[in-house]
Amino acid sequence: MAINDNFLRELQERTDIEQLVGSYVDLKRRGKTFVGLCPFHNEKTPSFTVYPDSNSFYCFGCGAGGDAITFIRRIENLDYVEAVKSVAQAAGMKMPEDGFDDTLSKKRNRILSANREAAKFFYKTLYSENGAAGLAYFNKRMLSKETITHFGLGFAPDSWDSLRNHLKSLGYSDLELYEANLIKRSEKNGSVHYYDNFRNRVMFPIIDLRGNVVGFSGRVLDDSKPKYVNTADTLVYKKGNGIFAMNFAKNANEGKFIIVEGQMDVITLHQAGFTNAIACLGTAFTQEQANLISRYADEVYLCYDSDGAGQTATRKAVAILGSTGLRIKIVKLTGGKDADEIIKLRGKEYFRALLEGAANKIEYDLLNERSKYDLSTDDGSVNFLNAAADILAATGEIERDIYASRLSRETGVSKEAILAKVQHRTAVVKRKAAEQKRAAETRMLTDLKDKNNPEKEKNLRAARAEEIIIASLARNQDFYPKLKDRLTPDLFITAFNQRIYTVLLQKLESGSGVELSFFAESFTPQEMDSITRIFRLGDEIGNTPQEVEDCINVLEKEKLTANVKASELSDEDFLKLFRKK
Ligand code: UTP
Ligand code: MN
Repeated sequence: MAINDNFLRELQERTDIEQLVGSYVDLKRRGKTFVGLCPFHNEKTPSFTVYPDSNSFYCFGCGAGGDAITFIRRIENLDYVEAVKSVAQAAGMKMPEDGFDDTLSKKRNRILSANREAAKFFYKTLYSENGAAGLAYFNKRMLSKETITHFGLGFAPDSWDSLRNHLKSLGYSDLELYEANLIKRSEKNGSVHYYDNFRNRVMFPIIDLRGNVVGFSGRVLDDSKPKYVNTADTLVYKKGNGIFAMNFAKNANEGKFIIVEGQMDVITLHQAGFTNAIACLGTAFTQEQANLISRYADEVYLCYDSDGAGQTATRKAVAILGSTGLRIKIVKLTGGKDADEIIKLRGKEYFRALLEGAANKIEYDLLNERSKYDLSTDDGSVNFLNAAADILAATGEIERDIYASRLSRETGVSKEAILAKVQHRTAVVKRKAAEQKRAAETRMLTDLKDKNNPEKEKNLRAARAEEIIIASLARNQDFYPKLKDRLTPDLFITAFNQRIYTVLLQKLESGSGVELSFFAESFTPQEMDSITRIFRLGDEIGNTPQEVEDCINVLEKEKLTANVKASELSDEDFLKLFRKK
């Protein structure tokens, strides 16, 4: 059951989006709108705009957009019903008992509670007869009993069904356990068979910021492969978003995080007193992880392995973390292959010294560039200095002075000449950035590409016409009755716009009015970006019935040519026919 429109409309009327968003983002009034720094991507000049008149927001920097519910969904990472509840609560409204479908949030809660029970089971097993091998393993890795308890570590017994049997006895169904990725399924001769996902592994629960167990990572006891088995994506866990130990580190970081590669590194560091250590789980560092980190710190120490893979990972992490404005220090790990080994072989003071000797991002970038050129030749020096000038152009004046002196000593070129070069690059870089920003903003609303509508690029004329029809009708519902005979959903060519129009049509037919929030249930927050963008097009277009009619004509014509194209024979096909005769 959908949440009914009347409730949503009242909620929308009672919700002050400027105030709601304002509790997360510093907003400044600009005419009829409010602007601030976008909470969904990192920026230094505000492109995030709140429109009180339509109760919506839109970011010209990253394209995020939507209504109040979408905003809460995104920023609090909630599902639709939870977000409606939260917005309703803030507005002092109670959700109608029958008016919503909360199957999804019930499912999420079942997965979370199954995970919690699983974590308890693994922990208990560790200290039972069946867990001796696991406990011996943790002992070998020098983890204390306190550390094991603190992180809730455990052991998954060497069995195909212990966890499944245990959780089923607690009332969880196979489907629930399967959706939690705690058990897996296989089909043989038409019969389905379930078995435990984690077997004979030491277990590391992954805990989110609210203290929920969202997943697990399990390590083998020997050198067999795969070394780690991790929870796959579920309703409560996305691999690319997990940060191990963030629940502890967020309160103990003094504005700094130590980022390491693996959970064993994190645990060893916490045990040694470095309680601000975290690990980003998953194959590649994601923007989501970087954004979360930047909400709790302004400086990070990157401690990736010193091997080739670690260096590549460092470069990628620097790029993503750098975009959030975090200060980055790159730690060169020596005396062991990873943080865990270094602490155990050399001790914590040694590790602390490595942290203190960390290079900042400028030094790291300069080192990186330097390794590309041969400084013993004139050409090499010139090319290196050009690259170095670009790096320094993006820094502050004091840094510039310091590094220009160093570069001068290194290359024999005078400091003044280097600073002049940097000055020149600064002007170029600044002008380019300003130009890019302006161009991006105007492009945004009429963008050729739309991640939610992959057909748009190939059907640009049609997609634009569709967008104008949607934008115009959403704003001018009185255009609809006269044009309704021609405005059927099959007029639409791109599937995504057709979906939007189908929902819009229901609202136009029912005369319930059109609100952005009526779309938030049928579309994901990412899809809401595009819908918001299309609705904002209403500011740019003519808003006349004639315009809508013109767009209908465009679509009808595009349909025709598309049909002709499809019925055209290729030369080859034509020849084939001819030969047969
Ligand atoms: P490493 O292979 O460096 O493992 O992978 P590690 O952290 O040093 O583990 P130990 O010390 O041998 O126990 C780094 C991280 O990459 C992920 C894990 O999160 C691991 O901690 N990883 C690695 C996997 O997810 N799966 C794998 O098979 C291997
Ligand atoms: Mn290791």
